[in-house]
Amino acid sequence: MNIEVLLTEAEIAQEFVESMEARDLPEKFFYWFPLSVRAWRELASGEPHRNLERSWDILSSKAPAITAHFPAVIPVVSFGSGDGAKDRLLLQALKREGKLVKYFPVDASQTLLETACAAAEDEDFEVLGLKADISSPMHLVLASDAAESPKLFLMSGNTLGGFDPFDQIRHIAECMRGGDRLIIDAEIYSEQAAAEIDNPKSAKFAFAPLASIGVQEDDGQIRFEIKRDERHAGMYLITKRFHAQRDLRISVSGEEIQVARGERIFMNFRYLFTPEAFHWLLEKHARLAVLSEVISADGAFITAVCSC
Ligand SMILES: C[S@@+](CC[C@H](N)C(=O)[O-])C[C@H]1O[C@@H](n2cnc3c(N)ncnc32)[C@H](O)[C@@H]1O
Repeated sequence: MNIEVLLTEAEIAQEFVESMEARDLPEKFFYWFPLSVRAWRELASGEPHRNLERSWDILSSKAPAITAHFPAVIPVVSFGSGDGAKDRLLLQALKREGKLVKYFPVDASQTLLETACAAAEDEDFEVLGLKADISSPMHLVLASDAAESPKLFLMSGNTLGGFDPFDQIRHIAECMRGGDRLIIDAEIYSEQAAAEIDNPKSAKFAFAPLASIGVQEDDGQIRFEIKRDERHAGMYLITKRFHAQRDLRISVSGEEIQVARGERIFMNFRYLFTPEAFHWLLEKHARLAVLSEVISADGAFITAVCSC
């Protein structure tokens, strides 16, 4: 298995200690521990993600047309690939059309990246995994430079919503050259989606990094909240906070961190978008052109094909 490392495990471990000290855990830690990977897989096996997978399946049938202007070999760079399950739908569709594909999954989670690489290799694709931080513009450029343009960029599973979407989509657009294509999805805001944010699978996923360092369920409470992002209409943010209900002494990588009763630890957040806000973000904010789009059968996700 070929994996190039731009972000080492030692760097992630150090950042985790610093994030705990700052009481603010960014997105990457929610896929880092084995417990988190398990909780994510459970969450991703739910009906909304299955419907999203069907959308990617529909888009896969269009993959040969989307890449018709590409030369013989099609480089596919997936930012936040996870286990690569959605990516492989596309890779398989291209292969069925007799196209050669080089696959570049990019992720900070060693476990998920290894899964993406191994599963694609099992299907005889040429693969180079990149262990990188996709919140870093520098890592995005380095990861995309691993392949020659024109290339097909992918970002699935509302990965965009785990970051500040204003910055993230601009940084991704900056990696694109003429002829490149981007397929990106986002979760659609609805009152029902907002009402369902606090459910047992989401709570387990949110709590997994803390459970991995010995925090018990009755040590505190996870609270979900939905807010508007006032920078643009139609952008909503689900935030999660852990409220300590007793004094905690947590050992992280040999360092003791004390969390006092009443303190809060901010956790990863997720954006939801109205379709209009998603279009605005892609077309007006990042100056991409939306060539086509698919809405999942349950109306929960929107997936767009873009050029720059
Ligand atoms: C919402 S999941 C989506 C995974 C996959 N694309 C899917 O649709 O199943 C987000 C992915 O981004 C990765 N990720 C989160 N923060 C990251 C970061 N800062 N750098 C690189 N990968 C990150 C996670 O490990 C996870 O695999």
